[in-house]
Amino acid sequence: MSSTRPDALPDGGKLSALNDWVNARFPLKKMWDEHAAEYYAPKNFNVWYVFGVLSMVVLVIQLLTGLFLTMNYKPSSAEAFASVEYIMRDVEWGWLIRYMHSTGASAFFIVVYLHMFRAMLYGSYRKPRELVWIIGMLIYLALMAEAFFGYLLPWGQMSYWGAQVIVSLFGAIPGIGESLVEWIRGDFYISDITLNRFFALHVIALPLVLLGLVVAHILALHEVGSNNPDGVEIKNTKGPDGKPLDGIPFHPYYTVKDLVAIVIFLIAFASVMFFAPEMGGYFLEHANFEPANALKTPEHIAPVWYFTPFYAILRAVPDKLMGVILMGLAIGLFFLLPWLDRSPVKSIRYRGWIHKLALTLFAICFVGLGYIGVKPAVGIYPLLGRIFSVGYFAFFLLMPFYTRIDKTKPVPDRVTYHD
Ligand code: HEM
Repeated sequence: MSSTRPDALPDGGKLSALNDWVNARFPLKKMWDEHAAEYYAPKNFNVWYVFGVLSMVVLVIQLLTGLFLTMNYKPSSAEAFASVEYIMRDVEWGWLIRYMHSTGASAFFIVVYLHMFRAMLYGSYRKPRELVWIIGMLIYLALMAEAFFGYLLPWGQMSYWGAQVIVSLFGAIPGIGESLVEWIRGDFYISDITLNRFFALHVIALPLVLLGLVVAHILALHEVGSNNPDGVEIKNTKGPDGKPLDGIPFHPYYTVKDLVAIVIFLIAFASVMFFAPEMGGYFLEHANFEPANALKTPEHIAPVWYFTPFYAILRAVPDKLMGVILMGLAIGLFFLLPWLDRSPVKSIRYRGWIHKLALTLFAICFVGLGYIGVKPAVGIYPLLGRIFSVGYFAFFLLMPFYTRIDKTKPVPDRVTYHD
């Protein structure tokens, strides 16, 4: 029974009439032009520039899979663990949804860490993009909170004891510490009440915050325009038509290029998800396959890999309060990066050897701390943890000095572009 009325199908004329109707009432085309078809991005982006879009892809994966997990998950201490097992074994495609979500959590941090490192390579946090960076840092904080609250939900041994360790850190605050811990937990120990509130924060509060911040992040970026691997402001060289000579419309040029990156990323993502979803205990910790037991502390408690650099800093300090302060500072210092960096140039391409060395050592310290954070605090590890912590802080605290004395190369007026 095929339709014999060709006018029943939406042809070009009808679609464009609908388009006009909408645009007379809502700035759809205006927004599309402003943020895609007429957003001029530097033509010299390299592979480091795909991680922003990939972060958005992972955000969407997490929101969608999270929604479907919530349909079968039970946020109560009596049922949570079993409901996750039910999702894995009995719900149709439940295992796929769950593995997508658990792999997505780690993938989120991988792409966000690479995205942040790109900003450090090319000085994207510098004027006029300070707010893009600060909003990015707020996203990072929200992401850490989101991951932390989500980790309690399977109600496994590591969920329980990880939450116990992190929440109890607030107890180090003099005076109000103990009451604060009680207030966060809603109980005298991590209980059903804690699980309920973490669930609420994980499924509604933080996703909303994250979405709002991502929109603000893009708006702030599009207000000032993208940086690029040369750190040259393309807005300074415009053609007679008022468009930057070194810019190309984001759509279709970068939408097409980003699609290639998205496909490659999804292949890697699917490979992990189908063949190594636990990733040797790094993405899903072994202890979390055992239900939470308040009477049995696991031998070795370690947070998931993406928190371990900060956990290693916490453990590097013998005093609990001091450890908590330094851990907070380790994250807080990132916010100050736009003002700590005093170099006359942005991109690493035109910086001298001191900055290059400093950034390399920082990356080694960060990864080293991450590695130490998953290991028990025995043998050489505590000492290494301290050395890497000193390196970590030195990178930030000495930055105003070494970036000023570092010899730089002349920055070209136009971006360098190799076909
Ligand atoms: C959900 C997480 C995030 C999403 C979806 C996201 C998205 C994006 C997108 C789409 C771009 C433009 C494309 C690109 O330059 O790669 C961008 C740029 C940028 N983002 Fe993010 N971002 C996120 C997290 C962060 C974080 C945590 C930081 C840093 C703390 C950050 C800092 C920046 C900076 C500085 C730029 C400008 C880069 C340049 O122009 O060179 N972002 N972000």
